[in-house]
Amino acid sequence: MKEMLFINYRHSDFKDHLNDYAKKVKEIDTIIKNKSGRGNDYLGWFDYTDHLNKEEIEQIKKDAKYVRDNFEVLVVCGIGGSYLGARAAIEALGGLNKKDKLEIIFLGNTFSPTYTYQILDYLKDKKFAINVVSKSGTTTETAIAFRLLRNLLIEKIGKENAKKAIYATTDKEKGILKELCDKEGYQRYILPDDIGGRYSVFTPVGLFPLACAGYNIHVFLLGCKRGYYDFDDDELLENKAYQYACFRDYMYKNKGKSVELFVQYEPHLCQLNEWLKQLFAESEGKEHKGLFPASVNFSTDLHSLGQFIQEGSPILFETIFKANTSLHDVTIPHDEEDFDQLNYLENKTLNYVNEMAFEGTLKAHAEQGNVPCMVIYLEKVDEYSLGYLMYFFMKACAMSAYLLDINPFNQPGVEIYKKNMFHLLGKKGY
Ligand code: PA5
Repeated sequence: MKEMLFINYRHSDFKDHLNDYAKKVKEIDTIIKNKSGRGNDYLGWFDYTDHLNKEEIEQIKKDAKYVRDNFEVLVVCGIGGSYLGARAAIEALGGLNKKDKLEIIFLGNTFSPTYTYQILDYLKDKKFAINVVSKSGTTTETAIAFRLLRNLLIEKIGKENAKKAIYATTDKEKGILKELCDKEGYQRYILPDDIGGRYSVFTPVGLFPLACAGYNIHVFLLGCKRGYYDFDDDELLENKAYQYACFRDYMYKNKGKSVELFVQYEPHLCQLNEWLKQLFAESEGKEHKGLFPASVNFSTDLHSLGQFIQEGSPILFETIFKANTSLHDVTIPHDEEDFDQLNYLENKTLNYVNEMAFEGTLKAHAEQGNVPCMVIYLEKVDEYSLGYLMYFFMKACAMSAYLLDINPFNQPGVEIYKKNMFHLLGKKGY
């Protein structure tokens, strides 16, 4: 079978140290498979494609068709793991300005009055549906936005019609959102108990928005399933996800790096960076350990952060993601007068120019700047390869956190700001 993903460690000395990890990786692989490590009750994502709820998937497809046929906009209302995966996938697959009959907008991910006002104002003249996504059902950003959206919807089309325009993804048994769905009769999809937000992109959290955006969720799940098989081997030399986890660990413990810089060369992959930052930061940043995940979009950021990367404090290494083919391409035309002196590029494509920018930058950073660089190559970004890639990162993240002896699946630190905020807001009990 053709290989899906290539990793190039050439620009670091990690390959010479790979074998040092072989034994430890085998031990951790066993605790992942036996679901016996820290946070083991949140390992449902690991073999999720073996337990798919086929009825729910068919319902999602049916509802998505209804939404595409009857509305102009779908507002996905969620935050963190309850929206980043869907957004990353939709933008990666379609680009930032895709012409489609259904527009997807994200709300519930901020308290920003300006953003919220402008979205609500825009929706006044649109036929819109809502997908509210919250496992707990109580996340404040999401709950406030949902209250505002629901009020606007009911004001526009009435309580009865709103029932056919509200889709909720939440916990199976508990939570305010589940209770509201039961009371009002809103369609409800399940975010399984044993899967946390940042590992939920293959559940209805990601599947419903993706299906509404017109993508083939079966193919997305097939890519995930192939990843599940390909990254199942406990032999480090055979398992690229585990190799990448060890590369991160090696950079952190042996090379003294404190920042992993995720690098893309396409703006529509920026949200994939955001998803990666959440995945790794919330999974690993505990007990005063972990790499700080940061991200850049090249070549844009070469004109700002590029200086620091090349010659600043040697705190970072790069994890570069590159697809060989772009969603679209543009050819540079001939110009008779050549005032801009660009005729040396005539008939060349922007994909080619971007590729040369990538190669030139890699050489500059790795060889002249001494920044360790690792490149992950995919042939192209489609539903299958994206499912594969996202699973790759999830599996690598679990291994990487266990290498640090961290529970990858909780996020105790995020509660502290909430307590302070609730106290200041006067919430009962705080
Ligand atoms: O990954 C996580 O668990 C978090 O980012 C959550 O997804 C986020 O806080 C939203 O929580 P909820 O789905 O309960 O609204």
